[in-house]
Amino acid sequence: MTTIGVFDSGVGGLSVLRHIRSTLPDADLVYVADSAHVPYGDKPQHYIEQRAVELTRFLVAEGAEAIVVACNTATAAAAAKLRCDIECPIIGMEPAVKPAALATRSGVVGVLATAGTLRSARFAALLERHAKNIEVITQGCPGLVEQVESGDLEGPRTLSLVERYTRPLLSRGADTLILGCTHYPFLAPMIRQVAGPAIPLIDTGEAVARQLQRRLLTELTDTRAGAGTCRFFTSGYANTATLIMSRLWGSAVIAQPMKGAV
Ligand code: DGL
Repeated sequence: MTTIGVFDSGVGGLSVLRHIRSTLPDADLVYVADSAHVPYGDKPQHYIEQRAVELTRFLVAEGAEAIVVACNTATAAAAAKLRCDIECPIIGMEPAVKPAALATRSGVVGVLATAGTLRSARFAALLERHAKNIEVITQGCPGLVEQVESGDLEGPRTLSLVERYTRPLLSRGADTLILGCTHYPFLAPMIRQVAGPAIPLIDTGEAVARQLQRRLLTELTDTRAGAGTCRFFTSGYANTATLIMSRLWGSAVIAQPMKGAV
């Protein structure tokens, strides 16, 4: 039996978990939202490293044999430390610069992401590798993660933030937008409404699920057939998380409190 542990600062990683669920229907999935410490985007690296190690240890104690860091910000800040400290496959994620560079026709790509991701050395290296021949305009999005965390995917405050962050990218010629934070795919309908249907919105959820599948084939040997289970945990309030997670997951789930959460 293969158990995959998945974590994010909050509920955003569910946008990755849904791709993992459909790519690996037999795997048992354990998700933990670090809701007591969200957002990560404005936190220092050592803080995120500490959180990532604690969440990963929790997931391993719950039986996880591979970990998906379903958070661009935590990957940028803590993937290297996790790979040093924890002995199991760690799959991280980063903004989809490579596919966006292939998709753009104007040669201008906009990246919506957290401040933590955008200022990271990992993001700089990503641009160095894949964005030599295009212009990349970056946009931090303070407040957007909190809107998703509160389940406000359609209200006027969310719309005004989406307009504030998206319009400048479009007016500078971006014809492709990267959703560089796992919370943002839940706002894709609203971003599409602001940007128009012709602008591709690219995120990394599906690619991460495929990458996980490749790693599992080479590093773990699971031949079990049947429907995998899915368990949900939070470091925050279980009742609140149950409501929001059920809404974002698309069916009723129960969020359990993460034992030992601070
Ligand atoms: N979902 C996260 C990401 O992909 C982090 C959001 C946050 O906590 O600031 O970057």
